[in-house]
Amino acid sequence: MTDFDRTAVPGHDSTKPSTTEAGARRESDANSLSLGADGPLMLHDVALVEKLARFDRERIPERSPHAKGSGAFGELEITEDVSQWTKAGVFQKGAKTPMLARFSTVAGELGSPDTWRDVRGFSLKFYTQEGNFDIVGNNTPIFFVRDPMKFPDFIHSQKRTPDSGLRNNNMQWDFWTLSPESAHQVAYLMGDRGLPKTWRHMNGYGSHTYMWVNEAGEKFWVKYHFISEQGVEFLTNDEAEALAGKDADHHRRDLFDAIAGGDFPSWSVEVQVMPYEDAKGYRFNPFDLTKTISKKDYPRHKVGRFTLNQNPVNHFAQIEQAAFSPANTVPGTGISPDKMLIGRVFSYPDAQRNRLGTNYNQLPVNRPIIDTNSYDKEGAMSFFHTGDAPVYAPNSYGRAYQDEQGRVDNGWEADGTLVRAAYTLHAEDDDFGQAHTLVREVMDEAARERLVETVTGTLLGSVEEPVLSNVFQYWKNIDQEVGEAIERSYREQSGEQVPGADPIAE
Ligand code: HEM
Repeated sequence: MTDFDRTAVPGHDSTKPSTTEAGARRESDANSLSLGADGPLMLHDVALVEKLARFDRERIPERSPHAKGSGAFGELEITEDVSQWTKAGVFQKGAKTPMLARFSTVAGELGSPDTWRDVRGFSLKFYTQEGNFDIVGNNTPIFFVRDPMKFPDFIHSQKRTPDSGLRNNNMQWDFWTLSPESAHQVAYLMGDRGLPKTWRHMNGYGSHTYMWVNEAGEKFWVKYHFISEQGVEFLTNDEAEALAGKDADHHRRDLFDAIAGGDFPSWSVEVQVMPYEDAKGYRFNPFDLTKTISKKDYPRHKVGRFTLNQNPVNHFAQIEQAAFSPANTVPGTGISPDKMLIGRVFSYPDAQRNRLGTNYNQLPVNRPIIDTNSYDKEGAMSFFHTGDAPVYAPNSYGRAYQDEQGRVDNGWEADGTLVRAAYTLHAEDDDFGQAHTLVREVMDEAARERLVETVTGTLLGSVEEPVLSNVFQYWKNIDQEVGEAIERSYREQSGEQVPGADPIAE
């Protein structure tokens, strides 16, 4: 199978009178079977029982994080020769690869507003001739935590409290201030990037450091950047709030309408490339996901561009059931010692086996465009099978299997003691340095003022001691002046009423 028609609906004919799921003609889609016009309903009304039973099961679990989102199909085209760094077919000059993109918010549930302040997911699935290759990133190049052990706690703090079931700023700030490695990402989130104007107007980042391997077996560390060709634009807090009330699906609608109207969004695909040997001596630990690699040290190289030009014809089948995973790599690419990334490689397929079922890779939207030959088999809803071919490897009956041994070409060296520890610190590693650079050197005065206003807004009436004092100190650690401005602005606007320290309430 090499064609790419994700809109085909095998076995469905819209012109045929409606049928049961077993194919028999239905008598009515309007009236159930009753004993006389006013009488009770009949249990053997197969059409009604089937319809209600199926309706009862229409919802599947939403994604645990990144539940609200949407996406579109498109094409990646490689315009530059990057074969000196990777042998992956998908990245060879001239290659055109069909793809799916999905954009999302992290914390909100399935129906939540698109314009609540949040990091945005930026998921890409490339249907390559060497198997599916996914890059599952965000619209920021870094993340809140650096160890997968903390990820569920982070998400819990962004979702809802156990008692009221409400979102809670106090809980968010408590987690962030007690996890100072979050400072860089929080500074991004509270800045303009926390409210992209549309999904078309944001950049995407692979975020982690990944690996590329060339034909000669040389290895490189790479960071993926997807630069919006629509430009990067933001909403103000007021605009975002108004939109959240007026049109909770604003971003979903914008993407769908743009593509339906022939205005196809595109992104320039670029990479930073670090020679394999440089990682150890680099001034920041390149595998720490809370850090960027400076463009001054490793500039971005153009690779190609991708364009989204085809809307889903069925949101549920093609977007809700899509399964993106950093575990999907192809020869010439690979992961890195980033602990978060290694945790993710386990977590996504595991979540998808639960959310979509064991055979989720057989769904049309997830199926590779090339044939597979896997000895993993059976489980619920197994649609494809291997006929009567041997079900075990090795076998003497002609079914192919592999037995490569020795060093893998996209691996790395590691030392041998088992520990529970933070990463080894490189020369300039700390929790607040890059956050400070972002706030002081990347943001201008106006952006810093908006940042102060946004942070203050999240504190007023919702954050109590001791978290409040921790927030002021956290921001002073990032940037003394900005921290003082946040504290001043809070005290002015709250009239010094610090929640939790109100003597009348005691
Ligand atoms: C150890 C850390 C992490 C874990 C355990 C984790 C786990 C998950 C899980 C279980 C899902 C739902 C998958 C599904 O049901 O299909 C998900 C979705 C997602 N995650 Fe993560 N995640 C982690 C870190 C990250 C990071 C660092 C990024 C970005 C750089 C990220 C970006 C996304 C995106 C974009 C989605 C939505 C995928 C889609 O569009 O379907 N996650 N994550």
